[in-house]
Amino acid sequence: MTINCDKDIKDLKVLISEEEIKEKLKVLANDIETIFPRDEEIYAICVLKGSVMFCSDLVKYIHRPVQMEFIRISSYGNETKSTNNLQAIDLTLPNLNDKNVLIVEDIIDTGLTARFLTDLFKIKHLPKKLAFVTLLNKKCARQVDIEPDLYGFEVDDKFVVGYGLDYKGYFRNLPYIGYFPA
Ligand code: IMP
Repeated sequence: MTINCDKDIKDLKVLISEEEIKEKLKVLANDIETIFPRDEEIYAICVLKGSVMFCSDLVKYIHRPVQMEFIRISSYGNETKSTNNLQAIDLTLPNLNDKNVLIVEDIIDTGLTARFLTDLFKIKHLPKKLAFVTLLNKKCARQVDIEPDLYGFEVDDKFVVGYGLDYKGYFRNLPYIGYFPA
């Protein structure tokens, strides 16, 4: 099959397996339950497109009512390095004033998106409690001083794909996280 992509799935190395992700989701969901007040609903904000798999799988392990909301931001374009050029494509949300809000991201790289979102939610939405969870944390690539409340795995400064993360729109549908060795 011919696809418009200069990377071949045959060269992809598995970094985090499907099983490892699944086990981590249970741990994160358990931690999320302890962060927010007991017996109160949570608004999970899925940051599209990259968080689509992580967010949908994660909420299955949260044992209380979860409202799912979706926003869309783009920062990488078609590159493997952050462009530092954040594009807010859709930030439409209901009133989150006094709600328990969980921002769900796929990866924190430079931290610019996380900084933007955290500030936006704090200032515009005035939630009761705000928490930030990311599946992957590329600590070594940070350009701004920000850390998530929770993260699944720390990764090196390499471009990763799969489980929602893409390269030129491809590889999002892989059930694991992988990378292309240099
Ligand atoms: P940041 O603003 O630089 O922290 O970048 C955040 C966004 O860049 C993420 O939500 C991803 O969409 C994208 N991104 C960062 N690193 C990677 C990667 O290794 N693979 C795929 N997308 C990435």
